Amino acid sequence: MSQVNILGFAGSLRQASYNRAALRAAQELLPKGASLEVVDLAPIPFFNEDLEAKGMPEAVLEFRQKIAAADALLIATPEYNYSLPPVLKNALDWASRGADSPLVGKTVGIMSASTGMFGGARAQYHLRQVCVRLNVLPLNQPEMFITFAARKFDEDGKLTDDRTRSHLARLLQALVVQVRQ
Ligand SMILES: Cc1cc2nc3c(=O)[nH]c(=O)nc-3n(C[C@H](O)[C@H](O)[C@H](O)COP(=O)(O)O)c2cc1C
Repeated sequence: MSQVNILGFAGSLRQASYNRAALRAAQELLPKGASLEVVDLAPIPFFNEDLEAKGMPEAVLEFRQKIAAADALLIATPEYNYSLPPVLKNALDWASRGADSPLVGKTVGIMSASTGMFGGARAQYHLRQVCVRLNVLPLNQPEMFITFAARKFDEDGKLTDDRTRSHLARLLQALVVQVRQ
């Protein structure tokens, strides 16, 4: 496989989100032959089996189709109360439904950004636990925790910390290698 198309999403709806900013940085740091489309999870409604029974909402169908079409996923998660935020879990819950879940077997890169000293590690490990049930293939290494995020991005949301940029480039490289394998 030459071209690797990655679909990215962040578990934050915040305009100035560091996790969304990290995905924008990833778009600048992609290895050759890779692309990264970032989707917004805001249009996805709260999961409700009654809603599902009427047919999946358009925003969910679109999200699932984009996952199906991607070679890999890149998830950037904040940490909310030591776990992944509901917006991310909700989107993954919708995508997990049915025998035709587009998540199954998909390679997933994971990173987290938090304003705290652990960089969202606890959220990330909860997410990795969820990945077992989703039957995705999370990239194990390199792990990526953007600690003290407010110091690593400028006021326009640009990732300015060189070590973090290099680390993100390594993560993307490893993700692409894993997909090609
Ligand atoms: C409801 C809530 C709970 C949070 N809990 C944690 C936490 O447990 N650990 C942590 O490091 N940061 C926590 N934070 C701070 C977030 O890491 C910080 O707001 C981060 O910037 C959110 O990600 P975003 O910039 O992508 O929106 C919490 C923030 C919110 C809003």
